[in-house]
Amino acid sequence: QSGLITLDPGFKNTGSTKSAITFLDGEKGILRYRGYNIEDLAAKSNFLEVSYLLIYGELPTQEQYDQFKQEITYHTLVHEDIKKMLDGFPSVAHPMGVLSSLICSLTAFYPTSLDPNRTEEEIKMSIVRLMAKMPTFAAWAYKNKMGHPVNYPDNKLDYCSNFLHMMFALPSEQYEVDPVIAKALDQLLILHADHEQNCSTSTVRIVGSSQASIYASISAGINALWGPLHGGANQSVIEMLEAIKADGGDTKRYLDKAKDKNDPFRLMGFGHRVYKNFDPRAKIIKKAADDVLNKLGVNDPVLDIAKELEEAALNDQYFVDRKLYPNVDFYSGIIYRALGIPTDMFTVMFALGRLPGWIAQWKEMRENNEPIGRPRQVYTGANERSYTSMNDR
Ligand code: SDX
Repeated sequence: QSGLITLDPGFKNTGSTKSAITFLDGEKGILRYRGYNIEDLAAKSNFLEVSYLLIYGELPTQEQYDQFKQEITYHTLVHEDIKKMLDGFPSVAHPMGVLSSLICSLTAFYPTSLDPNRTEEEIKMSIVRLMAKMPTFAAWAYKNKMGHPVNYPDNKLDYCSNFLHMMFALPSEQYEVDPVIAKALDQLLILHADHEQNCSTSTVRIVGSSQASIYASISAGINALWGPLHGGANQSVIEMLEAIKADGGDTKRYLDKAKDKNDPFRLMGFGHRVYKNFDPRAKIIKKAADDVLNKLGVNDPVLDIAKELEEAALNDQYFVDRKLYPNVDFYSGIIYRALGIPTDMFTVMFALGRLPGWIAQWKEMRENNEPIGRPRQVYTGANERSYTSMNDR
């Protein structure tokens, strides 16, 4: 091997790029989008404004915001040929698989010429189309699973209300969006909007580095997010809490399982590659869980189990030694459930939130003309040897 190869499985100590989008401080539990603290944005902003900030680098003026919102609103409709594609998916298809397929199909309808010749307008329109059509596809993936007819977007509704309406409206009955639910969802999407070079974002960047279309890059990111160690954790957390509840609420038994090296069970929603202190998003979501469940009059026993589990883990040497704290996925599922979102749609909700971050990171990578991602390896296989015919093996 010419030159020295530094082996770094999982890139634990590798910086893959330079980025001006999101700042994390794992020791202090700091998360900032373009310099603004997540606590500030979650309390005062809204998801479309935060999306604009992440993608274009500055908070929008009223005129910029209105135009961004208007363009997204008027691109939520989807080509009928893509709706016909939906009929091809069996109802057993996981919504994440349907979502990544539908997003990737946009490449056929909006062919993106190779990047160097892409005009600003073309890049802007691909951003608008992704922001506009992702909620439509997400809701349709759910309808496909339910075997219900899809709902078309309603341009009179705001971003989150339109999504909820497409998710839950049925031909047989009127569905009125509850503003408390729409607002809670908007805040959750802000909290998931970007997180520097996590697994799915690194996937979006490396696929985009081959000059694949932005749609194919985002589709790859959706699939990376699906894994239970990443965005799929929010679904695994609820399944874990339900199992503990069914097991009589014996949180200690599950803590012991999580510490047992011979037991593959992990405490889902705990631990983080970067945060070696509290995940600031988990703090906000934990408080929001209490607020939203109180406002909606929902009493969910798994919330109590979650708090008991957190309390026990934070006082357990194994978790303290490894600096394992609740992460963004530990409480988010409890809110999604209170909002009426079904468990197998939790990771779709994460994808909906992370979309502007993926877009911003893809755009930055293309604007910086970053080279194609192609790491090396340390070879540990067989030395040179000659082919042997079947009779001699
Ligand atoms: C997200 O990167 C991001 O920013 C991701 C994310 C984002 O916004 O994009 O923040 C979103 O993906 C949050 C993480 C969701 N995943 C989970 O909740 C799954 C459970 N967590 C773990 O699998 C784990 O903590 C990871 C995947 C989150 C981090 O894995 P690392 O950094 O590779 O850490 P590790 O597996 O090397 O663990 C270090 C030690 C090990 O013990 P030892 O070998 O040192 O004895 O801690 C242990 C692990 O066994 N450990 C756990 C644990 N997490 C780590 N033990 C029990 N339960 C856990 N949850």
